[in-house]
Amino acid sequence: MSVIVLGSLNMDIVMKTNQLPIIGQTLLGEDVDYFIGGKGANQAVAASRVNDATTLIGTVGNDAFADKILTTLNQESLTLQVTKENNHATGIAAIFKLPQDNAIVVLPGANATCTIDETLVQQWQATDTFLTQLEIPLATVATGLKLAKQSGLTTILNPAPFHVDCLELLPDIDIITPNETEFAQMIGKEFTSDEALEAAMLAWSKQHATRLLVTRGKQGTSFVENNSVTTIPALAVTVVDTTGAGDTFNGLLAAELAEQKSFADAVRFATIGASLSVQQLGAQSGMPTREAIHSYM
Ligand code: RIB
Ligand code: NA
Repeated sequence: MSVIVLGSLNMDIVMKTNQLPIIGQTLLGEDVDYFIGGKGANQAVAASRVNDATTLIGTVGNDAFADKILTTLNQESLTLQVTKENNHATGIAAIFKLPQDNAIVVLPGANATCTIDETLVQQWQATDTFLTQLEIPLATVATGLKLAKQSGLTTILNPAPFHVDCLELLPDIDIITPNETEFAQMIGKEFTSDEALEAAMLAWSKQHATRLLVTRGKQGTSFVENNSVTTIPALAVTVVDTTGAGDTFNGLLAAELAEQKSFADAVRFATIGASLSVQQLGAQSGMPTREAIHSYM
């Protein structure tokens, strides 16, 4: 069945540098690369690598980056329901790639004008999954989730970048997929051990009907089932670039749920796929095929 992704499209400008400049300083970086990104586009591409009926709904601006994004995404097996906004720039993510980690500034541009055409709903089936995130207006996220929920789709919110107001949408969210930082923001406190994280996950799940999983980078994915927490470990791989690993996870999870797989199986599939994706530079470059994931399962 289909995966419907509502979300952002960005041009990721990846600058390799050994350190971040401090205020007033100019540094010479090492290299620059341009990749298609944005959490919406990334999640849709991840899903489309394993699902042949994936749709991306979003908005780009009217500039050269928009053309590059659309041309590249058209090479994926993806249906694009992407609007071009004349008076806005396409979203940009300035990614400073440091030896250890990344620092990212996102300029939403046209993503901030993203709306959802309610007539699209006529094409949705109850067996489809609907996946969205928070790089577009919250009102659009809310409308998308409500329409999807009303049509009986499985709804997933990846609450990234986190904004506390998204918790008002929980009645329309079947599955919420924060990373550890976002989960700490969701519950309003930090946790200092694995045990504390698990206890917080169980406590949250007792209070909410929405299903919870937490993506944990190298440690894999933890989820609540039958009142206990299960952790699916990530694969040990050589990390080249973690940008988009969370998106890969979310896209693959949505795709497997659209195949009517069990929640635990879908989490396992998505966790392995996300591990594989960090072996190449760029959010979408390392996103695996079904065959690649199965060879590690
Ligand atoms: O999740 C990774 C994405 O976040 C990048 O592709 C960048 O565009 C930012 O939106
Ligand atoms: Na990657």
